[in-house]
Amino acid sequence: MNSFSIKRLLGEEAKSQEVIVEGWVKTFRSNRFIALNDGSTIKNIQCVVDYGNFEEEVIRSISTGAAIKVKGNLVESQGRGQDVEIQVTDLFIHGKADAETYPIQPKKHSLEFLREKAHLRVRTNTFSAVMRVRSALSFAIHNYFQQNGFYYMHAPIITGSDAEGAGEMFRVTTLDAKNPPLTEDGEVNYKEDFFGKETNLTVSGQLEAEAYAMGLGKVYTFGPTFRAENSNTSRHLAEFWMIEPEMAFYDLDANMDLAEDFIKGVLKYVLEHCEDDLKFLEKRLLDEEKTKPQAERSEMALLEKLRFVVDNNFKRVTYTEAIDILRNSKPNKKKKFEYPIDEWGADLQSEHERFLVEKHFKCPVILFDYPATIKAFYMRLNEDGKTVRAMDVLFPGIGEIVGGSQREERLEVLQQKMADLDIPEEELWWYLDLRKFGTAVHSGFGLGFERLVQFATGMGNIRDVIPFPRTPQNAEF
Ligand code: 4AD
Ligand code: MG
Repeated sequence: MNSFSIKRLLGEEAKSQEVIVEGWVKTFRSNRFIALNDGSTIKNIQCVVDYGNFEEEVIRSISTGAAIKVKGNLVESQGRGQDVEIQVTDLFIHGKADAETYPIQPKKHSLEFLREKAHLRVRTNTFSAVMRVRSALSFAIHNYFQQNGFYYMHAPIITGSDAEGAGEMFRVTTLDAKNPPLTEDGEVNYKEDFFGKETNLTVSGQLEAEAYAMGLGKVYTFGPTFRAENSNTSRHLAEFWMIEPEMAFYDLDANMDLAEDFIKGVLKYVLEHCEDDLKFLEKRLLDEEKTKPQAERSEMALLEKLRFVVDNNFKRVTYTEAIDILRNSKPNKKKKFEYPIDEWGADLQSEHERFLVEKHFKCPVILFDYPATIKAFYMRLNEDGKTVRAMDVLFPGIGEIVGGSQREERLEVLQQKMADLDIPEEELWWYLDLRKFGTAVHSGFGLGFERLVQFATGMGNIRDVIPFPRTPQNAEF
């Protein structure tokens, strides 16, 4: 007989049929009631053991965290709290978990504590729920693009170019760090390195995706990206997953339409497919919020917030309009912003983004047409000569969740921009080729996957929505 998932068993009608389940003990009450979980669902199945039928040693091995196999009859539950339960006839202990040393006990552990036990934390309700939602979101993302005529493209992870031009890259090298080969000028000689040039882990697959959009029409990447920015915030990881669609013949408006429809589509999917987990996470969040001062609590519960985003239009606002709103805002006048806004051209900090989204518009916002000086080199210059066709999607509680743009498709304009920024043409000769041969209007964006998972699960810290987070000074596990 094969074992069944608990998710499936809980949906079965109990006719006293014999079943097998395997999982980890959540709790063992009164030497009689095992709450068993196998990760298939947030819910446990109750397994009832008759003490007298089993050896003392077996009973003693049943403790929180132990892996066991249970055979028995699935019957209607006598007790309250569950429809079905298993009356155990056979018990096999896969592996015990010593109660003295097993860190995940049936009580509330802080998220900080669990971060240090990242290899075990998925056995908690919170993390198993988050990771199931994360998995469902990944599926929904592929599903969305595959159903809408996009091809999945694998952009390289090792790259010679700095797509964002921010210089926050992790070097990839096989040279001996203590004794690297040197050039005549005493510089490290990367010609002798593995690839014969300087290479890094990619910060974005965009430039390569552009090449592929110019042949396949509509593509998307979904892979890990790496940034060596020393930001210890609840929104930044050094290794995170990014989804980057890139579309030939899309202008900025079409790009914004896609971003909005895409985000709504994948959130709708999890609303429809992850109800139990989202309800659990909503309750977790409500409990957590009770410990905060009133002013910091969010106005909507998790499910309501997700439905609100799915059902309402995102507000589209130009950077220039946003600066006016910010300049005249209360916190700006009362000098409450850490970075006061006075000039057009200022880069927006997360405090400003959150003010716009959470206090002013109270809905997701797409800001577009940013000053060229604060955005990457590849964005299309507007007729005014000072703004570019950039867009950022800003979310409540998160800030920037998507960054994208219409790309500069005009060769001369792009060359001029690269010259202004001292980006050597030799480094991006192939990217310029795309503008020489069959160039066309095209656009794309990047969605930070973990920030989306944060939004969908209500988790406040990005370290708690990826299995093994990489952050400054931390690459354990
Ligand atoms: O705004 P970014 O830097 O845009 C790009 O990389 C473009 N090449 C995307 C494109 O047009 N194809 O990053 C995109 C998104 C951000 O909006 C944010 O959600 C996320 O990636 N992100 C991070 N997420 C976690 N940790 C970090 N350190 C992140 N940096 C960016
Ligand atoms: Mg950005």
